[in-house]
Amino acid sequence: MSILNPTTRSEWRALQEDAVAMSGTHLRDLFAADPERGQRLSAEAAGLYLDYSKHRITATTLALLMDLARASGLTEQIEAMFSGAKINQTEGRAVLHVALRAPRGTLIELDGRNLVADVYAVLDRMAAFSERVRSGSWHGHTGRPMRNIVNIGIGGSDLGPAMAYEALRHYSDRALQLRFVSNVDATDFAEAVRDLDAAETLFIVASKTFTTQETMTNARSARQWLIERLGDEAAVARHFVAVSTNATEVAAFGIHTDNMFGFWDWVGGRYSMTSAIGLSTMLALGVEAYHSMLSGFQAMDAHFRSAPFAVNLPVIMGMLNVWYTNFLGAETVAVLPYDHYLRRFPAYLQQLTMESNGKGVRLDGATVDYQTGAIYWGEPGTNGQHSFYQLIHQGTRLIPCDFIGFCHSLNPLGSHHDMLMANMFAQAEALAFGKSATQVAAEGTPEWLVSHRTFPGNRPSSSILADRLTPATLGALVALYEHSVFTQSVVWGINAFDQWGVELGKVLAGRILPELAASTEPELSHDSSTNRLIRRYRTARSGA
Ligand code: F6P
Repeated sequence: MSILNPTTRSEWRALQEDAVAMSGTHLRDLFAADPERGQRLSAEAAGLYLDYSKHRITATTLALLMDLARASGLTEQIEAMFSGAKINQTEGRAVLHVALRAPRGTLIELDGRNLVADVYAVLDRMAAFSERVRSGSWHGHTGRPMRNIVNIGIGGSDLGPAMAYEALRHYSDRALQLRFVSNVDATDFAEAVRDLDAAETLFIVASKTFTTQETMTNARSARQWLIERLGDEAAVARHFVAVSTNATEVAAFGIHTDNMFGFWDWVGGRYSMTSAIGLSTMLALGVEAYHSMLSGFQAMDAHFRSAPFAVNLPVIMGMLNVWYTNFLGAETVAVLPYDHYLRRFPAYLQQLTMESNGKGVRLDGATVDYQTGAIYWGEPGTNGQHSFYQLIHQGTRLIPCDFIGFCHSLNPLGSHHDMLMANMFAQAEALAFGKSATQVAAEGTPEWLVSHRTFPGNRPSSSILADRLTPATLGALVALYEHSVFTQSVVWGINAFDQWGVELGKVLAGRILPELAASTEPELSHDSSTNRLIRRYRTARSGA
């Protein structure tokens, strides 16, 4: 199989020419030339309004980007994904996270099996279990109801649920405390459980493979912690449940498979927050709100599959990112939610975007000679304004920004929300239009200070605005980014669904661990730097 190098496409070359032609054009010029630009360059779906007018694009750029998407086979690839083709070729797997939120009764078949029926069988078991825990009828080993839920997982088995819990905390049952343990650093576990009563604590061990070193180490420590406090190994049965695709390992760990919620190899870790990995989310929110979240995902899925590219939010966002990455030389995207509940959203997006599109070879194994996945980062506004926005406004780098905000606050208080949103709108405006030296001088600024106080502008951003942060809005927002990531991967010809790049470090850590623990001086055969670090660590540990 050979995949066409996208840089050889005529649409790619046309975009290169367009980038050169536009290089002297400022966003101020684009807005001045078209009074309707703010309205024309906007689109709406699944409760999300996307304003993409503050981007360095013309109608020609947009048309060329959509041509590139089409020429790359995006239409066919979307269909291939939705219909269960094994598009994750390096792992020989279908990519069907969309089946996890398809409406009940939909038919999505894989190898002759109706996946949606399987999905709802698990969702219904999750619902029954959540209801028991939330109502207090699930009793711990000593007969007490559960008040603390500790999710133990890492990567996709942590970031999605942790983000969703923070994002939707407003809707959560405040009688239940949720904690998330991911890091193999014992501090994470110790701090998470230090004030918890074991008799009221339920652990969810969330791991697709159930072999991940960090998660299994934390899970074993949690089991020991529980048994030490409740004094009986039998307590594990009432205080541990598992979420996994690996029933054998779950049973080997000692969790009865009756207390296991399954999912499938066609769900990638970072695409799994609507699988049983969402159990903690359902426990926090309740069944109805959880299904409302799924409906938001589903609305964006349906939009992505059917809307023409010109009004297709994930396609627009994905192709804009291709534009900045490959034609304007941007290296990062700043994600700036103006909602404190979304403070974990950038961290969540880092895995989604960078583990997906951080690839240097195409699907046919050829090394790329163009840039792929951008670096995603961010912090909630307005906090970031008092930290790194300086660089975005006046630094030397081009950093497209995604602003995300809501018309209604979930915690209305005086004029806080208007202030918050005034800041979001102002930042996007300031970035785009800046402040010229003439304006600065006209304010009476001493000449020597004028250049320091000038804002060049022409710094692009998208603004995503929704009515309020609800479970459905969050679902639509996550699906928007999921499909935008896929769009980019199709243009680049890379596999957004494998993650071989995480393997080497795991293998080397497995080799170093016994060297750190050995009672006699081990023979080290690493490079001189690694050898020395290991020796220094061992010496310090032995107190010598
Ligand atoms: O770090 C690699 C990775 O495989 C991620 O893709 C995944 O989300 C994470 O580890 C956790 O994996 P698991 O759910 O199998 O424990």
